[in-house]
Amino acid sequence: MNPANTGAKPLTLALSKGRIFDETLPLLAAAGIHVSENPERSRKLILPTSDPDLRLIIVRASDVPTYVQYGAADLGIAGLDVLAEHIRDHPGGLYQPIDLNIARCRLCVATREGFDYHEAVRQGSRLSVATKYLHASREHFGRKGVHIDLIKLYGSMELAPLVGLADVIVDLVSTGNTLKANHLVPVETIAEISARLIVNQAALKTRARALAPLLDAFGRAAQPQPA
Ligand code: ATP
Ligand code: PRP
Repeated sequence: MNPANTGAKPLTLALSKGRIFDETLPLLAAAGIHVSENPERSRKLILPTSDPDLRLIIVRASDVPTYVQYGAADLGIAGLDVLAEHIRDHPGGLYQPIDLNIARCRLCVATREGFDYHEAVRQGSRLSVATKYLHASREHFGRKGVHIDLIKLYGSMELAPLVGLADVIVDLVSTGNTLKANHLVPVETIAEISARLIVNQAALKTRARALAPLLDAFGRAAQPQPA
C-alpha cells in the first residue's frame, strides 16, 4: 500500500479477537487491506495481511495499550473503557488520533431490579461495587460523594448483585440484553464508549511516512456514514 515502506519492517497493529477484530475488518477493507485468517479459527497470534507492510498481532483487549505503549506494536485498537483505565496507571507514550466509531456501548452503573439505588445514594449509604473498571468507578462515585467498597472482577460482573457479592456493578451495556437476562437494570451512564486507534508516540516520529497512509485510511473509514 505504501511504497515508502516496502522492504522495511512491517507495521504492527495490535487487536483483540472478537468484536474489535470483526469490526476492524471493514475499516481495513476500506483501505484495500484484507486479512485471510480468522483468529477465532486459527491459533496464530501474528497474522499477515494483504499489505506486506502491515501485520496484525492478536492480544487480550486489555493488553492492547501495553503492546503499543512499549512499542511492540506500532499501533492498536482499544475500547475507550480499556484505554482510560490503562492511561491512569501508565500515563504517556500513546497518541490517540482517531475515534473509530466501532464497538459502541456505554459504561453504566446497574443494580438488581427492586434495589432503590437513588434512595441508597440519597441516604448516603455505603455501596459495594463490583467491576473491572476501578478508576472509572472510583472517579464516578467520588464525584457524587458516594462512599464505596470496590470489588475487582475480571468478567461476568452481572452475577455479583445476584449472589450478594455487591450492591451494584459498573460494566458495559450495549443492547441491554445481558442486564435484562439477569434481572438487572441500568441506573446511571458513566461514559459513552467506542474503540480508538492508538499509536506509539515514538513510532509516530520514526515511522511517520509508513503510518501516514494508514492513519488517513482509518480516518476516512471511521467517518460516520451519511443516513
Ligand atoms: P478481555 O479479553 O481482556 O477480558 P473483553 O472480554 O472485555 O476483554 P471484548 O468483549 O472483546 O473483550 O471487548 C472489547 C471491547 O469492545 C471492550 O473494551 C469495549 O470497548 C467493547 N465492548 C465490550 N462489550 C461490548 C458490547 N456489548 N457492545 C459493544 N462494544 C462492546
Ligand atoms: C459485554 C459486557 C456485558 C455485555 C453487554 O460482555 O461486559 O456483559 O457485553 O452487552 P449487551 O448490553 O448487548 O448485552 P461480552 O459480551 O464482551 O462478554 P465478556 O466481557 O464476558 O467477554
